[in-house]
Amino acid sequence: MDTASEDSFQEFVLTLPTGKDWDGAPLLLHNDTWCPAYCIRGVVSFQQNFRAQDTDIIITSLPKSGTTWLKALTFSVVNRHRCSPGESPLITTPPHELVPFFESDLYLKSQNPDLDFPPPRILSCHTHYTALPQSIRDSNCKIVYTCRNPLDQAVSYFHFIRSRASGSTKPVSSIDECFESMCRGVQSHGPFWNSMLGYWRASLERPDKVLFLKYEDMKEDIIVSLKRLAEFVGFPFTEKEEKEGVIGEISRLCSFENLKDLEVNRNGFHSSGFSNSAFFRKGEVGDWGNHLSPSMAETFWKIVEEKLDGSGLTFKTSH
Ligand code: A3P
Repeated sequence: MDTASEDSFQEFVLTLPTGKDWDGAPLLLHNDTWCPAYCIRGVVSFQQNFRAQDTDIIITSLPKSGTTWLKALTFSVVNRHRCSPGESPLITTPPHELVPFFESDLYLKSQNPDLDFPPPRILSCHTHYTALPQSIRDSNCKIVYTCRNPLDQAVSYFHFIRSRASGSTKPVSSIDECFESMCRGVQSHGPFWNSMLGYWRASLERPDKVLFLKYEDMKEDIIVSLKRLAEFVGFPFTEKEEKEGVIGEISRLCSFENLKDLEVNRNGFHSSGFSNSAFFRKGEVGDWGNHLSPSMAETFWKIVEEKLDGSGLTFKTSH
C-alpha cells in the first residue's frame, strides 16, 4: 500500500465505531460486524481484493462454532484420493494452517497473497454473508457454514478468550463479566444473529451454493453429515468407499479426541496469537448448562428467540 492509500485507510478506520471484546481487546464495527481491530486491514482487503474461482470451497462460521472441525473434515474429504487418513497432513499440520483464514492469515499480511495452489482451494472466513466479496457470491464456488447453538458458542468463546494472555487485554475471570456483551452480540465477528441469519437465508435461497451445517447435527451423526458435505462439495463417497469404511476413517481422523491429542495441535500458536490447543477444549453439546446460571440462560434464550424469530432457524433448548 502506498503512503496516500495508507493515510486514507487509517482515516477510514478512524470513522468506524469502536467496541471492546470480552477481555477488552479492541473491536471495530464494519458492515454491521464487530471485527477484531488487529485484523481490520485483512477484513477490508479480503472484501476488496479476493477473486473467487468456481472450484473454490469456502468454510465460514462465527468463531467457536466448529470451524476447526469443519476444516479438517472438508480437507480430508477433498484430499482422500491423494493420501489415506494414516498419511494425512492433518497429523503434522494444524487444520487452520491447511485451511487458512482470509482475514487473519492471508489478507492481513498482503493485499495480494499467494493463492496459487491446485484446485479445489479450501479457504475460510468469519465474514458475514452480505459482506462477502462479490465474486464469492457470484461465482459457482461452494460455501459451507457451521452454526452452533448460541449458548454453547458463547460458553466456548468465553473459555477461548480466557486463554488469551496478552499485555493489552484484561484477564477474564467469570462469565458474569461477559454477560452484557454476550447479550448485545458484541464479540469477534458478532453479532451472532447477523452471522447465522445471513448464511441461513442464503442456504434456503441457494441450496446448491450454501450448505448450512449445525454443530449439534454433526455431533449426533457425523456419518450422515460427512456424506452431505462430500456430496455438496462435489466429492461424493462411492458405494465401494462406504462399504470399505472410508467415511468412518475420516470421521475418526477428524474426531475431537484424535485431533486434540496430536502433538501438532497441543503445541505452537495460531497467527491470531491463540495457542493451537485453545481450539480444542471439550467438544460437547450442552456445556452451557455447566456455566450459565438458570436466569442467565433464560435471558439469553429470549434474545436468541427474538433475534431468530420467523427465520425458521431453531436450536434445541434442552441439554
Ligand atoms: P468447546 O469450547 O465447546 O469445547 P472453532 O473451531 O470454531 O474455534 O470452535 C471451537 C469449538 O469446537 C470448541 O468447543 C472445540 O473444543 C470444538 N472442537 C474442536 N475440534 C473439534 C472436533 N474435531 N470435534 C468436535 N468439536 C471440536
